[in-house]
Amino acid sequence: MGELGARLAAVLRAGDLVVLTGPLGAGKTTMTRGLGAALGARGQVSSPTFVLARTHPTTAGPDLVHVDAYRLSDPVELDDLDLDWDAAIVVVEWGRGMVDGISDSVLDVEITRATGADEADPDADDTDPDDVPDEPRRVVVTATGPRWAGVAL
Ligand SMILES: Nc1ncnc2c1ncn2[C@@H]1O[C@H](COP(=O)(O)OP(=O)(O)O)[C@@H](O)[C@H]1O
Ligand SMILES: [Mg+2]
Repeated sequence: MGELGARLAAVLRAGDLVVLTGPLGAGKTTMTRGLGAALGARGQVSSPTFVLARTHPTTAGPDLVHVDAYRLSDPVELDDLDLDWDAAIVVVEWGRGMVDGISDSVLDVEITRATGADEADPDADDTDPDDVPDEPRRVVVTATGPRWAGVAL
């Protein structure tokens, strides 16, 4: 997921909006971390669980703004954050349905995990991520709007 994020970073520029959808543990934050590393983002890209949005300046390009919309109940609340949508690359976890009307172009990334770790081994009580083998993820990227017309992803 990190590598996929890094590859995605290569096509992103200021004003781009990326929405990540997928269940808890799907890899949304991991993907954003890889994306941030590729952009040279400063600061730790982590689950912004208790922070709605975190801005990471990057070495050369636009800021990376990482949003967790999990606790938002209304798109208006996202608008209230007064993010500089045009100047930054904005990645929104749980953003589907929350970004409507914010930009006419969206990169929608849907992540599916085939099985949860608990289903694979119901007796597993060790959740150290280093002990968890890489699991396949199915990722569907849907690009909409004029920004992505003719762009090969
Ligand atoms: N493809 C994968 N295979 C195995 N573990 C993964 C994979 N992608 C992410 N993880 C791990 O799953 C955990 C949750 O990932 P995270 O990116 O925080 O998910 P999300 O933000 O979607 O809730 C982390 O420990 C991460 O290292
Ligand atoms: Mg997350």
